[in-house]
Amino acid sequence: MAPYHHIMAHFPMGLLFVSFFIILARAFSDSERTRGFDRLLPVLLVAGLLGGVGTFLTGLLIWPSDAVVASPMGRNKVLFAIWAMAAWALVAALRIRGGEQVWQGSRRLPLLFFTLVAAFLLAVTGTLGGYLLGSPSDFSLGLKAAGWDVYHTFYAPTWALGVGVAAALVIAVLGVLGARQKS
Ligand code: HEM
Repeated sequence: MAPYHHIMAHFPMGLLFVSFFIILARAFSDSERTRGFDRLLPVLLVAGLLGGVGTFLTGLLIWPSDAVVASPMGRNKVLFAIWAMAAWALVAALRIRGGEQVWQGSRRLPLLFFTLVAAFLLAVTGTLGGYLLGSPSDFSLGLKAAGWDVYHTFYAPTWALGVGVAAALVIAVLGVLGARQKS
């Protein structure tokens, strides 16, 4: 299954990183050219996500599940793959539901923020694949400098979960208040 995983990985990597550069360009420019690229985003994001699902499934079939669960690197890979796909799904939902209005004024900031997070998670997912293959890239040197050794399973401290839940509640309340103000 490994060769299929390698082939499939090109789709999310290529399509979602092209989306990343388009979002970056569109966030800082209102030119006709970046507007044109932006109109491609829904197709690129959906195709990238579908490719990501195929990559995820082929990834799970390379090693026996016992081996994946027993290895810190295997666990890291599955965790980051899930987070990366969830973050890109959010980016796709924001851009597709929000339409071209997401670029009006400061409305572009949430999309830019989540895109940076999603691109980082996808880059980590890919680089962990390099470790599983035995050809690690230097990308993880930056991760190590930031305090995470990829040979250990990434654990979020309990307080981080609390912060996550609190942030989710604040976002939900802001969303409801914003919707009420509109109507
Ligand atoms: C969307 C999700 C995923 C993406 C984008 C992704 C990406 C990649 C990439 C780019 C490589 C090759 C690295 C290189 O050539 O240097 C790779 C390898 C690998 N990935 Fe994934 N992956 C994903 C999900 C998974 C999952 C869920 C697993 C399950 C454990 C997995 C297991 C592996 C393994 C075992 C290898 C090494 C294959 C080999 O030895 O030839 N991947 N992955």
